[in-house]
Amino acid sequence: MRHIIIVGFLVILMAGLTYFGLDSAGLMPAQASTQAVAIDWLWNLQVIAMSFLFALIVVPLFYSLIVFRRKKGDLSDAEHVEGNTSLEIGWTIMPLFTVLAFAYLGAYNLREIRRVDPEAMVIKVRAQQFSWNFEYPDYGGFISNELHLPVGRQVLLKMESRDVIHSFWVPEFRVKQDIVPGRVTELRITPSQIGNYKVRCAELCGAAHYAMERVVVVSEAADFSAWVQEQQIAFAAAQTPEGKGELLAAANGCVGCHSINGAALVGPTWLGLFGSQVNLANGTSVVADESFLTESILDPAAKIVAGFEAASPMPAYSFSQEEVGNLIAYIKTLK
Ligand code: CUA
Repeated sequence: MRHIIIVGFLVILMAGLTYFGLDSAGLMPAQASTQAVAIDWLWNLQVIAMSFLFALIVVPLFYSLIVFRRKKGDLSDAEHVEGNTSLEIGWTIMPLFTVLAFAYLGAYNLREIRRVDPEAMVIKVRAQQFSWNFEYPDYGGFISNELHLPVGRQVLLKMESRDVIHSFWVPEFRVKQDIVPGRVTELRITPSQIGNYKVRCAELCGAAHYAMERVVVVSEAADFSAWVQEQQIAFAAAQTPEGKGELLAAANGCVGCHSINGAALVGPTWLGLFGSQVNLANGTSVVADESFLTESILDPAAKIVAGFEAASPMPAYSFSQEEVGNLIAYIKTLK
């Protein structure tokens, strides 16, 4: 009996120390959505359960090793134990109820996280190797490379991929959702804290998966409206060939692989590309004129630029002639 009291006391002490140790490590980023509250609550409960189970295993183990070790010179056999029915019933029933309780709490939590607000703002998210863009159909359908959200209002993300599986993840919002080609997946988020965050891709999707990030800005409703207005004006002003080309390049993720500032990404930069002499992988060279750019957009494998042989080939895009013209008009402006 004395041993059980001591072990019981040590288990509680160890469980407490484990829990507070994990808690003070600050493993979680800021809690920036209402969905995060429900998730963190359940997570915390699980950490408590895990701390207790950890102590329940480790404390009796080490206590037995130390207190019941063989005395010097004692060569007798240990006491023969035949089993303990009440203990076995106990350790069957207890975990069963714990698991059932967590299953219930998990289902309840999921309902909270997916609670539908009929006023939710719809944003279309497009993911592709290796970029994101965001379309705002409620505000005239402008497209942005940054995800701006007003605080306190639920957004419904309707997400599509044009190539492989990606995953939308802003750690501060906690929720995460895969984006599967050929279908629209949805995610509801209600940002609760003003700040700058980052959406990152949480599904290994290719060579530049690590770089598939975009800025997420959560702001006051008034600041959000001001930003929307700016975007709408820019969107209207962008109805020139160069402007349309720039939007097209953003919407199709071209600039995720082809930088516009001279940096070498997955593909050659567009800065200063037009009219320049381009060395090809086969040892020849060519002037980057309209016909070369048109061919490279519609049939990317036709001429591979030297230094980019190892990069995964660009997917073939089925742009119209006008769209190709707009893209080239945009590339011409990048000097
Ligand atoms: Cu997209 Cu990883």
